[in-house]
Amino acid sequence: MTIKLFEPLEIKNITLKNRIVMSPMCMYSCHHEDGKVEDWHLVHYTSRAVGQAGLIMVEATAVSPEGRISPRDLGIWDDSHIDGLKKLVEMVKAQGASIGIQLAHAGRKAMLEGEILAPSAIAYKEGMKTPKEMDGEDIHSIISAFGKAAERAKEAGFDVIEIHSAHGYLLNEFLSPLTNKRQDQYGGSFANRYRFLSEVMATVKSVWDGPLFVRISASDYHPDGLQVSDYVTMARWMKDEGVDVIDCSSGAVVPAKIKPFPGYQVAFAEQIKKEADILTGAVGLITAGIQAEEILQNGRADLVFLGRVLLRDPYWPRTAARELGYDLSPPTPYERGW
Ligand SMILES: Cc1cc2nc3c(=O)[nH]c(=O)nc-3n(C[C@H](O)[C@H](O)[C@H](O)COP(=O)(O)O)c2cc1C
Repeated sequence: MTIKLFEPLEIKNITLKNRIVMSPMCMYSCHHEDGKVEDWHLVHYTSRAVGQAGLIMVEATAVSPEGRISPRDLGIWDDSHIDGLKKLVEMVKAQGASIGIQLAHAGRKAMLEGEILAPSAIAYKEGMKTPKEMDGEDIHSIISAFGKAAERAKEAGFDVIEIHSAHGYLLNEFLSPLTNKRQDQYGGSFANRYRFLSEVMATVKSVWDGPLFVRISASDYHPDGLQVSDYVTMARWMKDEGVDVIDCSSGAVVPAKIKPFPGYQVAFAEQIKKEADILTGAVGLITAGIQAEEILQNGRADLVFLGRVLLRDPYWPRTAARELGYDLSPPTPYERGW
């Protein structure tokens, strides 16, 4: 039996060497609060490339300064960010991995001084800021910021762009009826709420012809919120609009109690893959090689995104290979210890 976890996957113009993706994880490590890559990012991401992950997805990277979750987020809102990102790309690629960047805007979840933006003026929860309801100019300016960020990502040499439309951040806030109470063409009907994401994708695609991923929250975990069936519909639209992979996370749109268990979001990736006929990524408490292999062999997803387990074990691909009896080649300098 071939081990699917270590099978390459071709997406557009790139071939991922295996199905293991480092899930985007904010490091909040821009100590100068200028959004620029620091030594930490170079060491952290390159270590996972040495560890043989196929695709390294760089954390939520803000397309505009007020779109950061914290002042220490990575940024791509200015040309001065390109050099640091380019160095990061070169270092990761030199270790044989592909590298993507998650383009993000925090919306009402930004924890910053000054004005924050959202589709409607509703705070996430008590104690958090009430955002300004975005006007037409704000909408236009953020769509254009995503486009400029995509151009910079291209210049830095990234292989993949992922648009962050999950976890209750700005794009997700437009999609969900719980957070979008607008009366204009960006609110109300399902199609109207989808419009902002659609326009962001179109702007990104006007400058980017590489693989495009979108991360979604496949359930709001709320009776009046979005369910996975809504995302099946949106995934069909996204496929028609040129999206290659739907990265299926869930929740965090409104405060809701969920009880995570191993692979708790895999069913979302499976349903979207089957019903929208699009490549999907599964994420969430996938920690064992055999668990990842089951997801792929049963055709429930095409990629596995790993978060916290890769923080604990940068060599998780090796750990999984040993568990699955796969002969994973080490980086040459590590041959004597592999
Ligand atoms: C420290 C940390 C930072 C995170 N930052 C992001 C992020 O920048 N973008 C994102 O989409 N998800 C983010 N997440 C969510 C992870 O990508 C992942 O979906 C989640 O941790 C579940 O996967 P896991 O059980 O393998 O950790 C973060 C998670 C952690 C633990």
